[in-house]
Amino acid sequence: MKRAIVIGATSGIGRALVKVLVAKGYVVGATGRRAKLLAELQAEHPGKIFISTFDVTEVATVVKKLSALVREIGGLDLVVLSSGTGHMNPALDFALEQEAIDTNVLPFTLIAGWAYAFFEKQGAGHFAGITSIAGLRGGRHAPAYNATKAFQIRYLEGLRAKAKKAGLPIVITDIRPGFVDTAMAKGDDVFWVAPARKAAVQIYRAIENKKPVAYITRRWALIALVMRLLPKFIYERI
Ligand SMILES: NC(=O)c1ccc[n+]([C@@H]2O[C@H](COP(=O)([O-])OP(=O)(O)OC[C@H]3O[C@@H](n4cnc5c(N)ncnc54)[C@H](OP(=O)(O)O)[C@@H]3O)[C@@H](O)[C@H]2O)c1
Repeated sequence: MKRAIVIGATSGIGRALVKVLVAKGYVVGATGRRAKLLAELQAEHPGKIFISTFDVTEVATVVKKLSALVREIGGLDLVVLSSGTGHMNPALDFALEQEAIDTNVLPFTLIAGWAYAFFEKQGAGHFAGITSIAGLRGGRHAPAYNATKAFQIRYLEGLRAKAKKAGLPIVITDIRPGFVDTAMAKGDDVFWVAPARKAAVQIYRAIENKKPVAYITRRWALIALVMRLLPKFIYERI
């Protein structure tokens, strides 16, 4: 039986992914701040889901919480880091920019590093980060959000290179969603919005296939290509 931890499992992509993992036979440790939502999720799958309530920004306690959860689920094969935040921020309100940085950068670094060290000691494992297509270019609507996602993408690239160079079977998967129908994807500019369950099924497949990078849904690979190729003078006008 495989064991996974999903961080940011109270809602959206993380919650949908927990359900897919359980359906595929995993025992899952699910985390987030909203205890009631975690308890509801656990009640739906007795004996398959174990829960831990904590705030990823409280970095002094995160590793303790994760280690306890690993003991509870009886081992660890997969970590999926889905917790994240970002807001439209036309006024560049520093509090909103700071929230994105505090949630998406430091905790990401801490948890990715912890998972890598755990799998290095164990001799194998799989870490998947839910980044975003937003990390491919700067974004005028939420500059900090795009920048934090670029950080995550580069961090994962670094970990992948580290595992490869060390000859270790540690798989690093960078999941880059376009728009998924969750609390985070609100606004008038959204398109190709995927239901969370469809996104979760595609994320599961990418993990099973040990993909280094996956666009969710798959057609977002096209947008990614356009984003990468679009000249600066056009990108800055759209
Ligand atoms: N939806 C999209 O269109 C989209 C597109 C690209 C990338 N993404 C990425 O997908 C990931 C998941 O987002 P989502 O769309 O599923 O939105 P969501 O429903 O808002 O889920 C965010 C999750 O992160 C957790 N979280 C946020 N801040 C936290 C904190 N300080 N401590 C612990 N957990 C925290 C939330 O749990 P609590 O609030 O209970 O703590 C929740 O479980 C994010 O990293 C986001 O950047 C989403």
